[in-house]
Amino acid sequence: MAPDVLSPATLGPLKLRNRIIKAATFEARTPNALVTDDLIDYHRQPAAGGVGMTTVAYCAVSPGGRTGGEQIWMRPEAVPGLRRLTEAVHAEGAAVSAQIGHAGPVADARSNKATALAPVRFFNPIAMRFAKKATRDDIDEVLAAHANAARLAVDAGFDAVEIHLGHNYLGSAFRSPLINRRDDEFGGSLENRAKVARGLVLAVRRAVKGQIAVTAKLNMADGIRGGITTDEALTTAKWLEEDGGLDAIELTAGSSLVNPMYLFRGDAPVKEFAGVFKPPLRWGMRLTGKKFLREYPYREAYLLREAKLFRAELKMPLILLGGITNRETMDLAMSEGFQFVAMARALLAEPDLINRIAAEGEQVRSACTHCNRCMPTIYTRTRCVITGAPDRGRPLQ
Ligand SMILES: Cc1cc2nc3c(=O)[nH]c(=O)nc-3n(C[C@H](O)[C@H](O)[C@H](O)COP(=O)(O)O)c2cc1C
Repeated sequence: MAPDVLSPATLGPLKLRNRIIKAATFEARTPNALVTDDLIDYHRQPAAGGVGMTTVAYCAVSPGGRTGGEQIWMRPEAVPGLRRLTEAVHAEGAAVSAQIGHAGPVADARSNKATALAPVRFFNPIAMRFAKKATRDDIDEVLAAHANAARLAVDAGFDAVEIHLGHNYLGSAFRSPLINRRDDEFGGSLENRAKVARGLVLAVRRAVKGQIAVTAKLNMADGIRGGITTDEALTTAKWLEEDGGLDAIELTAGSSLVNPMYLFRGDAPVKEFAGVFKPPLRWGMRLTGKKFLREYPYREAYLLREAKLFRAELKMPLILLGGITNRETMDLAMSEGFQFVAMARALLAEPDLINRIAAEGEQVRSACTHCNRCMPTIYTRTRCVITGAPDRGRPLQ
C-alpha cells in the first residue's frame, strides 16, 4: 500500500515529519544579498503551515551565479542571517533546504556586476550582456564554489541542499545539446555534456560529509527543439544514481532562458511581465512576449507522465513536482511510487495549505488559479497576487 503523504519519511540522513516539500520560489526579499526578517517570515509561514521541508531560493554559489544582484550568494557574511532563518523554521517543526547553484547563461551579468558563464559565449537578452565561455579553470572554480556553498549551508544549520541542475542554469546548460556546442571534454557526447552536472553533485556530496541531505532539481526535458530530451535526461539520471551523490532527485522541466512556461503551464502573464521591465526591454517583451512565454495547458500533476518514466527506471527516491495542489494528487504521487511531493505556487498562495489538508482532507481546494501572475513578482517582491500571501496584512505593491 502507498504510504500516507502526511506520515514521516527519511531523506538521506534526515527525518521529515511528512513527505511534502515547499519547492523553490525565489523570494526577492534580500535587498543587500543578505537575510532579512522578511525572508525569515516568508519561510516561517509554510513551516508553521505544515510542510515537511521548505526550500530557500536562491542561494547562489558565487556573485556571478545569480539571476539578480540582490540575491544571496553563499559567503561567511551570509551565515549568521541564514542561521536565524534555519532556527526559525526548525522552531515550527519543519526542515529547511538551501537551493544552491550557478545560473550560468540565465545569470544577469549587468545586475550582478560580475561575468556570467556558459558552455559557449551566449547572449542573455534580459541582462543585455554576453555570458563568457567557461574555461576549464572556470569550471573548477564553480565546482569548488558549490562545495564551499554546501559547507556554509551546513554551518548555517540547513538540513539539506538542493543543487540546481535544471532550467538552463549552468549544470543543465552544459547538458543541453542546443547550448553546449563545445568540442572539448565537456561537449559533444552526452557523457561529456553531463560531466559538469555529475561533478557538481560529487563536489557537494564530499563537502557535506553526510551531515545533511543532498538533492538535485533535474530537468527531464527543456521543452525546446534541440534541447535536453527525456531520453538523455533519463540516462543522466541513471548516472547520477550510480554515482551515489544524491539522496533524491526533484524532477522538473523547461528553461528560464527560452521557454519558461514549460515549467509552469497555464496562463502566460505577458502584460505583467513586460510591466516590470524598463523600455526598450518592455517594448520587446510586449512584442515578442507571446513567443517567449509560449502557453501550455495546465493540468494537475502535469509532469507526472514524464516523471513516471524516471520512476520506472530508477531505484532512488524521487520528488514529484509540477501542478500538485490537493490531497488526491498527493495520494496519486505516492501510489505511483514517488517518495515526496514538492509544491511551489499552491504554497505561495496559501502557506497554511498543508495544515488545512491535514484537518479537512480531500475537500480542500487550492486558491492557486495558475494565472502565473506570481512569476513577474520575482522582480519586485514575490507573492501571490490573488491571496496576497505571504504578505497578508501588508499593503500590496
Ligand atoms: C514565483 C516563483 C519563483 C520561482 N523561483 C524558483 C527558483 O528560484 N528556483 C527554482 O528552481 N524554481 C523556481 N520556481 C519554479 C518552482 O520551483 C516550480 O518548479 C514550478 O512553480 C512548478 O511547481 P508548481 O506547479 O508546484 O508551482 C519558481 C516558481 C515561482 C512561481
